[in-house]
Amino acid sequence: MKCVDDFRLKFGDKEYVPIMIGGMGVDISTADLALEAARLGGIGHISDAMIKTVTDRRYQTKYVKEKLAKYKFNVNNADKSVVQFDLDQLAEAQRMHVTKTMERKQGAGMVFINVMEKLTMNAPKDTLRVRLHAALDAGIDGITLAAGLHLGSFALMEDHPRFRDAKLGIIVSSVRALQLFLKKSARTGRLPDYVVVEGPLAGGHLGFGLDWAEYDLESIVKDVLAWLQAENLAIPVIPAGGIFTGSDAVKYLEMGCGAVQVATRFTVTRECGLPDKVKQEYFKATEDQIEVNELSPTGYPMRMIKSCPAIGSGIKPNCEAYGYLLDASGNCAYVTAYNKVLEANPTAKKISEIHVYEKTCLCTHMRNFDCWTCGHYTYRLKDTTNVLADGSYQLLSAEHVFKDYQFSKGNTVALPPLEA
Ligand SMILES: Cc1cc2nc3c(=O)[nH]c(=O)nc-3n(C[C@H](O)[C@H](O)[C@H](O)COP(=O)(O)O)c2cc1C
Repeated sequence: MKCVDDFRLKFGDKEYVPIMIGGMGVDISTADLALEAARLGGIGHISDAMIKTVTDRRYQTKYVKEKLAKYKFNVNNADKSVVQFDLDQLAEAQRMHVTKTMERKQGAGMVFINVMEKLTMNAPKDTLRVRLHAALDAGIDGITLAAGLHLGSFALMEDHPRFRDAKLGIIVSSVRALQLFLKKSARTGRLPDYVVVEGPLAGGHLGFGLDWAEYDLESIVKDVLAWLQAENLAIPVIPAGGIFTGSDAVKYLEMGCGAVQVATRFTVTRECGLPDKVKQEYFKATEDQIEVNELSPTGYPMRMIKSCPAIGSGIKPNCEAYGYLLDASGNCAYVTAYNKVLEANPTAKKISEIHVYEKTCLCTHMRNFDCWTCGHYTYRLKDTTNVLADGSYQLLSAEHVFKDYQFSKGNTVALPPLEA
């Protein structure tokens, strides 16, 4: 019987433990978590979601306060089109996050950054270009293009000196999306170094509709592997979504996949950015508390724990401070939904009197760790640890979870040594 450690992910002549920890914004996949994966010989991800908030919190910058001060005059205006990101500051924040992470890197693995196209930031192309270039400037090992089709993203980077040396990957949920991406980026003469195939059981946004349950990762991965083989394209395929044990991973590695991308099991590690109280909610969640809904203003379905404070909250949009989901015309579906509710309740004064059920304010709630996005198998997390004397669940170390994926056999999950 094989374990994950019997396989290696190969990039050129370099080899890695075939475990990639997926990007989890906003700072849920922290630098600490990504660095552990790299130290252990695998690949970790930081994320650039709400980058200015992340550097404010981690490195004492004041970007959010400054942006709010600049656009304060607009806070009661439903039209958010004037609210723009300062591109120099955006580059500065991105470089800071990446540099400070890469400076601490140890071990044989790599650190990538997850860059979501759906963070349109009121100027999709310009802001995306800055984010990609700044990450490359600051020495990131690789970029995973996520949440969106990214058909033009390679072209946005092709004038960067590291375009051909950094690892570049894409996340798709169908062979068709991969074909489209390869067709559109063919002109740059560069293939992706890896393709993450994300199935319907993943956390975060899904590349499926509300009929997600009709799809399964294994079939999509088989389609992708067969098509790549037929086209003679040797691009490592990295399945993601619902790979909960080392044995689940081995199944895909034996099929010919290069590695696996996993995330949910790391949400309850000490290195994960969620507050400890929220990690306990992930442990406690039962299967019926996990839903896929359409609350994200991005238009993609998203998986969440139903009891999270973000759902039904009528928080005032804070685009002047954040505004990461404003589209090219300065619109966000939450702002529209919020204003509709406000109009219908003209006498409501307090936030507790307003409930918006159509959409959620992803910026504020992700920033405050109040939107509990999660993978389908979150309800199994309680089986991966010990219950402590006070009834709480014991947090895990990223190393423990990583090594459990790497060495476990027979569909088992190793419990950590019981904490005193
Ligand atoms: C809490 C959480 C947040 C996530 N956020 C993102 C994200 O910001 N960008 C992204 O591309 N994927 C995101 N994902 C998806 C993961 O990177 C990964 O592909 C997927 O969850 C793997 O499946 P698993 O969680 O069942 O192991 C998120 C997943 C979780 C659990």
